[in-house]
Order: sequence, then C-alpha cells, then structure tokens
Amino acid sequence: MSAYPHRHLLGIEPLEPAHIQAILDTADGLREVLDRPIKKVPTLRGKTVVNLFYEPSTRTRSSFEVAQKVLSADSLSIAAAASSVQKGETLLDTVKNLEAMNPDMVVIRHASSGAPHFLARHCRSAIVNAGDGAHEHPTQALLDALTLRQKKGRLKGLRVAIVGDILHSRVARSNVWLLSKMGAEVVLCAPPTLMPPGIEALAPVTYRIEEALEGADAIMMLRIQTERMTGAYFPSTREFHVRFGLTEERVRRARRDVLILHPGPMNRGVEIASEVADGPASVILDQVTNGVLVRMAVLYLLLGGGEAA
Ligand code: CP
Repeated sequence: MSAYPHRHLLGIEPLEPAHIQAILDTADGLREVLDRPIKKVPTLRGKTVVNLFYEPSTRTRSSFEVAQKVLSADSLSIAAAASSVQKGETLLDTVKNLEAMNPDMVVIRHASSGAPHFLARHCRSAIVNAGDGAHEHPTQALLDALTLRQKKGRLKGLRVAIVGDILHSRVARSNVWLLSKMGAEVVLCAPPTLMPPGIEALAPVTYRIEEALEGADAIMMLRIQTERMTGAYFPSTREFHVRFGLTEERVRRARRDVLILHPGPMNRGVEIASEVADGPASVILDQVTNGVLVRMAVLYLLLGGGEAA
C-alpha cells in the first residue's frame, strides 16, 4: 500500500491523517531540491499536466507550474478567460478535448463547488483540486500545515485562530478539516454575517477577535472575498478593520511566539495591517515557498511515487 493511496486530490475531508502526513513528509523530503544550484530532477519526465484555471490565481497556478518544471513534467496552463470557454464550451467538453491530447493530470480551479469531483467521475486523468468555489482548497491547507510544522515542529496541540471571511472561504474549510485531523485546536472568528450556519459542528466559533487570539500559537487571517458577496455583510471595510482586523496592537497582546499566516492575496488595511503582514511574526512568504514543495509532493505522489487506488 502506497503512503498516499488515492488517484486524485479532491479535498482534505476524505483523507486520513496518515495520508496528510505522507504528503507533508514528502514535501519536507523534497526541500533540498530547491536549495540545489540546478533546481531540476528527472522524476516526472514524460508526464504531462494541464493546469486549467477558471478563476484568477497568482500563487497556486505559478507554484504548480514551478513544481512541474522542477520535477521535469511537461505542462500547459489554460486560463478559461482566454479559452473557448468564452464561446460557451462546457467544463466536461473542455476537459474531454484536453484529455484527447493524453495528459496524465488535470489541476483545476473552478468557481463551482464539486467541479473537480465531477471531473474525477468522468475523466481518466488524475485530478487535483486547486480550489472549488467556497468548498475546499486542499493544497493551500497542506502548505499552511507544512509552514506550521516547519516553524513550530508539530501540529498536534497547536491552537490556531482562523479569522475573517469564513463564509466564502475554501481555505478555512480545508484548514479546519486538516488541523482537526492532525490534532490541532481550531477556533473560528468572523462577524455573524460571515460565519457559515452549522460550522460550529466542525470547530468552536467566536465573534470577538480578542477571544480568538487568546493563547493562539498561530493566527490565520482570511481575505474578505468581495467578488463572492451578493449583499452588504458589514457596514464598511474600515469598521471591519476596527472590529476584526489584525492590527499591531492585537499582535502585541498575543503570544510572543505567535505566527501570522495569510493565504493571499491580502487586503492590506482591511483584514490585516501592513505592519503585521510585513512584521517579524509573519510567515506569509514562507507559505508561498512551501506551496511549491507541497505541490511537488502532490505531483510526485500522484504521478510518480503513488499507486492508483
Ligand atoms: N492562496 C491562493 O489560492 O492564492 P491565488 O488565488 O493567488 O492562487
């Protein structure tokens, strides 16, 4: 049995702790490759990956591309906005046509929850979820976990506060699943309008940021996702910053060794003050570096080192 026995990576929810551990350990094992003068290994030579992005991305798409180049996979990236999707082609037709060119893997970001699962049922390629609607963003949670483990030496027993637009956040959902499975304690904090109904079943909830930050080993701030908002969820961005923003003052009152994470892109001055984003407790750019490692690990386990389940 492989350390990661699945054909796809669709989300964190279906994974067992051992599978998460396998991805994190593989990512750590690959770290030295990025420190070499020539950052290239032949591991995935002859494999082809399609990166299909129906939503904008800077970090996820570019780090998948870097990971594919380092592992010598051939890859092509398609942005839906510049493809025949604009002429009305369906998701399934698009992927079936791309599959006719014989790729081994499709990495997909889509605005609809469940789009990667739909492809996994209808396509023969390995499917990796690079973010589906407000559902999951598994590689983001994995890179967050890799960063926490790198900086704190463990995940078990850590207290992690996740603060911001929980309602629209696939990052929050994947992190709640991952951190809970790995024995960390999670607390969620948002205005009541940005807290999904029923989320208390997965993690404790508070509407006071001071309560969320008390004793936290790490604070994960989330972006206010105005592009997914259909109404007014809070009076103004200024008021949001006053009540829920991570300010220098709030960091000063937190643990001395607290870590500050943000998946990016950041709304500086809204959910996070610039001084905090660029301050000594911030590990936001470490998250980006670890994103390359996690995506290398996923590519390796699904295309090179894993067995088909
Ligand atoms: N964290 C994240 O998914 O960033 P991008 O939208 O830039 O990929």
